[in-house]
Amino acid sequence: MASIVLKRTSQKMPLVGFGLWKVNKDTCADTVFNAIKAGYRLLDGAGDYGNEKQAGEGVRRAIDAGLVKREDLFITSKLWNTFHAKEHVHALARKQLSDWGLDYFDLYLIHFPITLKYVDPNHRYPPEWFGDDGKVYLQNTPMIETWQAMEKVVDDGLAKNIGLSNCQGSLILDVFRYARHEPAVLQIEHHPYLTQEPLIQLCKTLGIAVTAYSSFGPQSYVELGAHKGAASLLQHNMVAEIANKKGKSSSQVLLRWATQRGLAVIPKSNNHDRLVQNLECNSFDLSPEEIKAISGLDIGLRLNDPADIDPRLAIFA
Ligand SMILES: NC(=O)c1ccc[n+]([C@@H]2O[C@H](COP(=O)([O-])OP(=O)(O)OC[C@H]3O[C@@H](n4cnc5c(N)ncnc54)[C@H](OP(=O)(O)O)[C@@H]3O)[C@@H](O)[C@H]2O)c1
Repeated sequence: MASIVLKRTSQKMPLVGFGLWKVNKDTCADTVFNAIKAGYRLLDGAGDYGNEKQAGEGVRRAIDAGLVKREDLFITSKLWNTFHAKEHVHALARKQLSDWGLDYFDLYLIHFPITLKYVDPNHRYPPEWFGDDGKVYLQNTPMIETWQAMEKVVDDGLAKNIGLSNCQGSLILDVFRYARHEPAVLQIEHHPYLTQEPLIQLCKTLGIAVTAYSSFGPQSYVELGAHKGAASLLQHNMVAEIANKKGKSSSQVLLRWATQRGLAVIPKSNNHDRLVQNLECNSFDLSPEEIKAISGLDIGLRLNDPADIDPRLAIFA
């Protein structure tokens, strides 16, 4: 399977993985089992997705059935915003590992560079964005404190690699000023409406692997009523024309466009046929002209912007 070699550990991160956001809790264990059976080796989870126990059950069943060994899998999880203080990072990583039934994560990411007031997991888990009264409560934890606690997660063997998500250049450069273990991966929203050229170039320069999320653009946000009126990329004429020419689907073209730009992708689907189709996105090549034409759709449209929740969370301003 095509992969990206991560700096420091030289571990191979598969180029195509399976995303777990909005994977239904009641079918998640089956979906994960079937995703592994279909050939997925990377699972992209997060405490915030509320399905880590079920995902872990799917993994356990796949291992018990002899489909894979633990070391064949690349499992990613993410630290939520309410757990950034140094005394909470380690405890949360341990809780999440216990939810999955694992000894270590292959990759542990800071989900957002946003620090919210601590919520005890015994009180409410996952805590999401709001306090009990529906308001957003900020907490002052600087990134250096969280990053050094993440490094300790590596030192203690709870994660092999650590990284960032939803961070921009200036913050990434700041982390590099003090990091003992540099961020191995940056996970970002990336699709033809948001191509993020300068950020990808910076990561290349720094040796950070980039994972694209929401590769189908607005599609993932339609069910949340948060697609900002954007036209479907899966039904875009130009994407469909390229797909027809190649005998592929529009979804495969959108994923291949990202992987040919050197990014890993982590499409999510609750439908088995689509899940299988997405995994097969690297079986053809786009021409440089086709890549350029798709990149030309960029309109700087960011669908996952915490500023839409509260203006004090404008991390992309
Ligand atoms: N770091 C972060 O802050 C962050 C944020 C967002 C996402 N992520 C990660 O990235 C993963 C992927 O992003 P995403 O879930 O936002 O969106 P996505 O994978 O771009 O799109 C998922 C949507 O597309 C549909 N779909 C999937 N395959 C399809 C196909 N072949 N043809 C047509 N429709 C298809 C899905 O519906 P069906 O399920 O019905 O197929 C769902 O509505 C997430 O699951 C999560 O792991 C990370």
